[in-house]
Order: sequence, then C-alpha cells, then structure tokens
Amino acid sequence: MKGAFPPGFLWGSAISAHQVEGHNVHSDWWAWENSAAFTGRDRSGEAARHWELYETDFRLAHELGLNAQRLSLEWARIEPQPGRWSEEAMAHYRAVLDFLRRLGLRVFVTLHHFTNPRWVAERGGWLNPAVVEWFRRYVARVAAELADRVDFWNPINEATVYATYAHMQGLWPPQGRSFWGGWRVLKHMAKAHRAAYRVLHQAAPRGLVGTAHHLVAFAPVRPRSRLDRALAAVLGRLNNDWFLDAVRGFADFIGVNYYHRRRVRFSARAGPPYMGEAGAHEGPTNDLGWEIYPRGLYQQLLSLRRFALPVYVTENGLADAADRQRADFIRAHLAEVLRAIAEGMDVRGYFHWSLIDNYEWHLGFTPRFGLVAVDYTTQERRVRPSAQVLAAVARANALREELLTALWRGGSPRPPA
Ligand code: FCB
Repeated sequence: MKGAFPPGFLWGSAISAHQVEGHNVHSDWWAWENSAAFTGRDRSGEAARHWELYETDFRLAHELGLNAQRLSLEWARIEPQPGRWSEEAMAHYRAVLDFLRRLGLRVFVTLHHFTNPRWVAERGGWLNPAVVEWFRRYVARVAAELADRVDFWNPINEATVYATYAHMQGLWPPQGRSFWGGWRVLKHMAKAHRAAYRVLHQAAPRGLVGTAHHLVAFAPVRPRSRLDRALAAVLGRLNNDWFLDAVRGFADFIGVNYYHRRRVRFSARAGPPYMGEAGAHEGPTNDLGWEIYPRGLYQQLLSLRRFALPVYVTENGLADAADRQRADFIRAHLAEVLRAIAEGMDVRGYFHWSLIDNYEWHLGFTPRFGLVAVDYTTQERRVRPSAQVLAAVARANALREELLTALWRGGSPRPPA
C-alpha cells in the first residue's frame, strides 16, 4: 500500500537508558551483570556512551528528517537511594530534553524501561506492593521537574515483557521463575501505571499519557487444530489484551511495540501454564530468528479499535547487522500502517527501534538494531543505508514507491516488491 500519512504524523526512533547510556551503576541490572549469578552474554559497561554523546546521536536523528524522539529516564540515576534525588541526573535529563526541543523534536518519555534502582530490587522489587508508591513518588518528582519539556509520557515500557523475562522465565534480574510471581508483578505494574497517570495529569497537564505495549501476532501452527487456535487466542489474551484492559481509562493514547509473529502449537507435554511450543517460522527471519511478518502490525493495530484512542507505533525494528533486510522491513511495515489508517485506525506516529545499536539485554551487544551503527571500540557512529529509506518517507510524509525505488537503486540490495 502506498500513500500519504496524515498531516502532523510523528516520525522518530526509540532508545532506552540502560541500553545506551553506559555506567548505570545504581541499577539492579548493573548489580546483576557484575554478580556471580549473571547469565547474560555481555555486561553493559559503557554501552554506547550515550550519556556523553547524546548531542551527536540526536543530531543524527534530526539530520534524518525525524521530528520526534522516544527515550527513557533512568530511575536508578534520579533516585539512587530511597528519597534521595540526584540533582546531577535531573540536570542532565533537563539538558537532554532542552536539546531535543532545540532540534525541534517532539518528546516521548518512558519512566521505566526494564531497570530498577538497586534499592528497589533489594526490597523485593515489583513483587512488593509498596513499589506502587515508590514509583508514584518518583513519577511525581520527575513531573514536577520536567513537566513542561515532555509531550508524551509512557510510565512503563512493556509490562508483560518485563514480568515474563524477569519473573517467569528467569532471564533477567531477579531471575524469578514463577507464573504467579510474574502475574503479581504485572498487577503491580498496572496499578503503578494508573497511579502515574493521575500524577502526570495533575503535575504535567501539558503532556499526554499512554503506555508502550508489546503486541505479538500469535498464530496457530495448524490452523485447523482447535487446540492450536485456542492456545493462540489464550496467549493473545494474556500477552496482548490483559494489560491494556487493566489500564483502560488511564491512557490518552496507546503505544504499540511490534516486532514479530509467533506460531504456536498446543502440546500437553509442555505443561502449564503455557501448554504449547513455538512452531517453525514460515516467513523470513531476522538475525535473532524472529519471524518478519509485517501483516501482523496491521492486525495488531486493528485489534485496538475497541479502545477508540489515538495510536502510536512506539517500537518496530529488527536485528540486522548486515543491513540487508532493514530497508524492506521499514517499507513493508509502513505499508501496513497505511493500510490500518485507511481502515479508520487513528495512527499518529511511527518510532523505529532503534536510533543507534545498543545493549540488547541478556543477548548483549551482538544484535544490531540501529538505524545508526555503533563501533563499540571507538564509539564512532555510522548511519546505515536503510536509515535513508525511513528518512525519505519521513520527509515526504508519504510512502512513494518511485522515491523508494530510486533509493534502492542507490545501493540497497533489493528493489521493493
Ligand atoms: C523491546 C524492548 C527494547 C528492545 C527491543 C528489541 O521489547 O522494549 O528495549 O530490547 O525489544
């Protein structure tokens, strides 16, 4: 599908603090990375040194013709000890937000992107009901200090991913392995989101508050099997619907983070709570083996009709170190966004994950998600050719085939289908 995007459409990219800033020493992730329990691939270390290099990075975003930026603030830096606020961290983020403003970029701020202050983790983290009040107090402080600099707020990024990886599957700190533990975390996160919504509306009336939610296109491996279909539906309810329903009435917009389709097959052997196994992929996959399935973005956008809210694609991207698939990936997913808009969905922006290569959690530095490549030895930045495709669409505010074909001829490996 080709065509123009609505006027005022926001074009941006997303990053999160721990993945790029470096030396996040007061966080639970840092503590875990430097403990004997660490099971990840790499330690974050100086990451992409974005704490120092943010001007370079955001200038690149601006030069690409993007008009918005999504980033996260690090709670562990702002409140390194309970109730002790770091003026230095606050001044830093103030300067960052001012810089984005000077560049003319609209700002989406996430307040929790998978990491916690160490003291929060030591007191039971998101399993402890008191976390709701700790988080509310942090949000209130940030709102009081930075309210007039932020256009859109996401209190919590991907609550379901955090609850699953950190509390059900043991992949992230605190390495919990309990379905009910994860469920409890999710409930606390929904409560914390609602508390943050109230605080932000009081203290930061200028900004809109939403959530950045991870939506997966679940599909049955055997479309004729009732059990596979039921499993895909149950996973969709738990992963895609539950959190959004829990924050219903406490969101001015919905942020969609969409990456892939997951084909699932019912299996009694797999046992509760999942009762299923991942099926083989049908389509192409990225460097991490995630299936590239653009139509899933359209499907997920349409599934949000029941909320009747504006929608922003707050993350969409892929690990592609050779930059062989990214240009096509962007074009194909944006075509699906246009299709959803044509069917009446109020989609108002698209943020590519990510602006620069970064620390991909337990998978370390190997996956390359950036529009801009980072050389971790020299910290040099190099804009990948595929970034020019996003730039061309953003500048035209339209997906025009002739423009993209010309770009592909200019060096990208494959013309659009
Ligand atoms: C999303 C996360 C983001 C990044 C991408 C690849 O689930 O929000 O931090 O890890 O996946």
